[in-house]
Amino acid sequence: MKRIRITEVGPRDGLQNERAIVPVAAKVAFIDALAAAGCREIEVTSFVPPKWVPQLADGAEVLRAITRMPGVTYSALVPNERGLDGALACGVDAVAVFAAASEGFSRRNTNGSIDEVFARIAPVIRAAKAAGVRVRGYLSCVIQCPFDGPIEPAAVAGCSARLLELGIDDLDLGDTTGAGTPDSIEAMYAAVASVVEPSATILHLHDTRGQALPCVERALTLGVKAFDSSATGLGGCPYAPGAPGNLATESLVRALHAAGWQAGIDADAVARAGAAVRASFDAGTATG
Ligand code: HMG
Ligand code: MG
Repeated sequence: MKRIRITEVGPRDGLQNERAIVPVAAKVAFIDALAAAGCREIEVTSFVPPKWVPQLADGAEVLRAITRMPGVTYSALVPNERGLDGALACGVDAVAVFAAASEGFSRRNTNGSIDEVFARIAPVIRAAKAAGVRVRGYLSCVIQCPFDGPIEPAAVAGCSARLLELGIDDLDLGDTTGAGTPDSIEAMYAAVASVVEPSATILHLHDTRGQALPCVERALTLGVKAFDSSATGLGGCPYAPGAPGNLATESLVRALHAAGWQAGIDADAVARAGAAVRASFDAGTATG
């Protein structure tokens, strides 16, 4: 069976970029509904300074309140060792570290140059592996940087190699601004393929220009078998102006199923889960 791996990033990448600060109970209901809908990997939250992302300041509370469904990997994004400690204390199954292929985004998103960020995350990866959790390494701006413009595929390949050398389990390539087209995604993979097989990567698409599904189609022809997406297309990145909305999980699942792939996810149930959390934005229960 042709199986595709999907990581649901709505609770983290989605909610970090919504103006509303969603109450813990609504987040917990969202995450539990995603697991019930068949999502097998859920990025629950991040452990970053609340002044950077106030929307996710309650990550520990959320992780402690969700119902852990057997077989589901619950993960958190961590920028440094302090974040890792917070995530491990909540019993996460996996963590995600993040770097960027552009200097401008690296400085704006993580307050450090590309080199400084690699130096910061190296001990985090080592400590996470020693603690026995899987480590995903995101590389942002693999197509375009909101500050520096287009990114050379060779730069993406170089940063990918550096992340892999640090010992990450999964390389996750982020089209942070959603500027990718099928052709630019293919050009990026042509360079990255010199360091890692496309089939061993995850593709993280934002849908800013409605190109995410055509990019998925092209990526599938290149051998990519893992994608990130977000229920109802929640999300973006607060430090990437013009990056609203991840690829919507239900659209991805429907497109994959129509093309004969299996994702093991109930698209309608994911859409309902996304709609319910969005309702908490409007219900006057959210602030911010
Ligand atoms: P900094 O301000 O340079 O950090 O941020 P610092 O070490 O100077 O610390 C500043 C304050 O934060 C200190 O407190 C620290 O103790 C505290 P103060 O002395 O001011 O009271 N602190 C923390 N508090 C809680 N949790 C922590 C933590 N660490 C320090 N973990 C830093 C540097 C890297 C921490 C910051 O820049 C950061 O966290 N940036 C992340 C911003 C972010 O979350 N962006 C979105 C996620 S990335 C993304 O969305 C892209 C992705 O989706 C892929 C794609 O689309 O491309 C993954
Ligand atoms: Mg993202």
